[in-house]
Amino acid sequence: MNYMRYMEERKERTKWFMEARFGMFIHWGLYAIPGRGEWVQSDEKITKKEYQKYFEEWNPTRYDPGKWARIARQAGMKYAILTTKHHEGFCLFDSAYTDYKSTNTACGRDLVKEFVDAFRAEGIRVGFYYSLLDWHHDDYPAYGDMYHPDRENEIFRGKEHHFERYLDYMHRQVRELMTNYGKVDILWLDFSYEGHFGEDWRGKELVEMVRELQPGIIINGRLEANGEHYGSVMTDKPDIYSGDFACPEMIIPPYGLKTPSGVDIPWEACFTLNNNWGYTPNDRHYKTASQIIRKLVECTSKNGNMLVNVSPTAIGEIPGWQKEILDEVGRWMHENAQSIYGCGASGLEKPEWGRYTRRGNKLYAHITEEGIGAIALPGIKGKLKKARRLADGYEMQMFTPWVAREFPDYEFINYGTPECFSFSVEEKTDTVIELTLKEE
Ligand code: GLC
Repeated sequence: MNYMRYMEERKERTKWFMEARFGMFIHWGLYAIPGRGEWVQSDEKITKKEYQKYFEEWNPTRYDPGKWARIARQAGMKYAILTTKHHEGFCLFDSAYTDYKSTNTACGRDLVKEFVDAFRAEGIRVGFYYSLLDWHHDDYPAYGDMYHPDRENEIFRGKEHHFERYLDYMHRQVRELMTNYGKVDILWLDFSYEGHFGEDWRGKELVEMVRELQPGIIINGRLEANGEHYGSVMTDKPDIYSGDFACPEMIIPPYGLKTPSGVDIPWEACFTLNNNWGYTPNDRHYKTASQIIRKLVECTSKNGNMLVNVSPTAIGEIPGWQKEILDEVGRWMHENAQSIYGCGASGLEKPEWGRYTRRGNKLYAHITEEGIGAIALPGIKGKLKKARRLADGYEMQMFTPWVAREFPDYEFINYGTPECFSFSVEEKTDTVIELTLKEE
C-alpha cells in the first residue's frame, strides 16, 4: 500500500467532514422503553425472551424526523448519525435478513428511510451507526462473551453457534444500508474488542464492499478499535480497517491527534448530553449549552469535530431538555458559526483568556474568561489589521493602553474607551472577536 497516497486520499475524502465540525448523534432503539441506557440488556443480563416485550410494544407514533432535522439545523449541525442497529440487534430499517426490525412492529415504518429523507431535505448530511455486536442473532457468541446478556447464562454454555453465519448476516445488512438509501456520507461502525478485531469481522472484505457501493463515504475506525484505543489510524501505516477518522468518546484529546511523523489525523469526539447515549429520563446530569459551545470550540481549535448525542423517547421525540440545550447552542452558532466551520488550529500559543481558532488570515479569539481592561493577544505582534466582534460587527479598538506598556510582545484590543474600559459581563460563554491578520 502507498501510505502517502492513502493519507492524501483520506484528507480529500474527509475535507467536507472536517470543515463541518459539528454533528448530531442519535441513539434510538428498543432500549428507549426501559429507559435505563442502551446497554440495559447487557447490564441487567436480560434474556432475549424477556427483552421481546419491548419489540412487541415498539410504536413511536410521534416520530417526525423533520422535527429532529430542524433541531439539528438550528443548532448549526451539518451532519447526523443514526443508530440503524445498536448492540441489542433491533433494526430501524427494513432488512430482508431478519424479522427483528421496525417494519415488523406496530409502527410498520422504515425509520431509517424517513430519517434519510428528512435530514437530506434540511441540507444535513447523513451517517449510519451500525453495531458490529449483536445480542439478538443466534450465531453471535453468547456464553463467555465479554458483553453478551447471556454471558453467564448456563443454558448457553457449550451451545453451538456459527460465527461465520453471523458475519454473512452482518455483511449483508451493511450491503443493504449501502444500497437502499441513496448516498450515505458516513458509516460509523461500533466496536471491536478481544477476539473481535479487523479480520475477525472479515474487515477487508467489508471495507472493500462499502467503498465500492458508496465511493466517497467516510468510515470510522472501530472495525479495529473502540473508545479505548483508536487503532492504526494513529500511525503512519494505517491498515485497511483503520477508517478515515478516529473517534474518541467522552474525551477531547489534549493536543489533537497527529501520527508519529506529524500528519494530522481526522477525528471526531462524541459526547452525551447527560451520562447516557440511550434515553434515560432519570439521569439528570445535564451538560449546559455553554459547556457544549466551549467544547465545540476546543475541538475546532485542535482540528477535531464534535458529535453531540440526542436520545429520543420510545414515542419518537427528542426530549425537551435536549432541545433547549441545542436551541441555545444554535443561538450562539447563529452569530458565531464563522469561527467554527472550516476553522482549525491556529498554530499559536493558547491564550490565557480562552482559545484561538483560525481560517487563513482570519483568527478568531474565543474569550471565555471574564477579563478586566484590555485583552492581550499572544503570537501576532505587528500582524493585526482589524478586530471586530463577530456577533455584531462592533469595532474592537486596537491600541496599547498606557497600563500595558510593560508588555510590548502583545497586540492589545479594547472594548472601548476610556482606556481600561471593560465589559466584564460579556464573556460569560464565549465572545468571539474576529481578528483579521495582515497578509504575510
Ligand atoms: C460505546 C458503546 C455504545 C455507544 C458508543 C458511542 O462503544 O458501546 O453504547 O453507542 O460507545 O460512541
